[in-house]
Amino acid sequence: MKLSKRLTAIVKATELTPYDHIWDCCCDHGYLGQQLMLQHPNSQIHFVDVVPHLIEQVEAQLITSSLSNWQCHCLDAADIELTNLAGKNQKHLIIIAGVGGDLLMDMVKAIYNEHSDRPNKPDLDFILCPVRQLHTVRQGLLDLELGLISEQIIQDNKLFYEVIHVSSQSAQAVSLVGNHMWNFSNSDHQTYRQIMMDHYQKQPNSLAKKLLSLYQALTESDQLS
Ligand SMILES: C[S@@+](CC[C@H](N)C(=O)[O-])C[C@H]1O[C@@H](n2cnc3c(N)ncnc32)[C@H](O)[C@@H]1O
Repeated sequence: MKLSKRLTAIVKATELTPYDHIWDCCCDHGYLGQQLMLQHPNSQIHFVDVVPHLIEQVEAQLITSSLSNWQCHCLDAADIELTNLAGKNQKHLIIIAGVGGDLLMDMVKAIYNEHSDRPNKPDLDFILCPVRQLHTVRQGLLDLELGLISEQIIQDNKLFYEVIHVSSQSAQAVSLVGNHMWNFSNSDHQTYRQIMMDHYQKQPNSLAKKLLSLYQALTESDQLS
């Protein structure tokens, strides 16, 4: 199965750190999670979707697999329960991709708030790839004080996406317009910045004005090194 450029970029972002548990939330047909099972044989891969027939299909497929590092959950992703073995703080990665930024951020907040004040609190990383409402996501991550691990711009099938990897263990504040993903010698990145500026230019409110000026102010120093 050949993954899209967007899902391939997400898989690549998981390679930085070993995780005990990886949650493919909003998994749909489970393509991403199935690649993660191969890539991370020592991790438990959790497939989560709120639609029963989708999870039933994924489960029916996984049962025929030779791998056993998976679990399926028919759940609202906001309600996932991150388990820790007694006395052992396990590292969890939660991936949410392919849904709108507002819904995605509701899920992140619910998961983070539910688990962050537990005595044996889990080590939490997120890889997020929203469809639209990027600013809502970035502001929400700042509010939760989830710090940046990496971020990148992906162009896939004529659409642009951002893949944002954050962690409860990182102190590097997330920027509202991205600080470590731009490469202005890449014409795709110039196009993406122009799309974002055109979008905010049309909106007559103070937040849009602020975001527009942040995009305009991006400089060479914000580029990928
Ligand atoms: C467009 S698919 C995204 C599939 C895949 N993550 C990707 O990025 O290609 C969106 C999926 O999100 C699921 N979904 C929507 N709201 C959800 C929720 N609250 N909890 C879990 N899954 C949800 C839908 O059932 C659908 O399968």
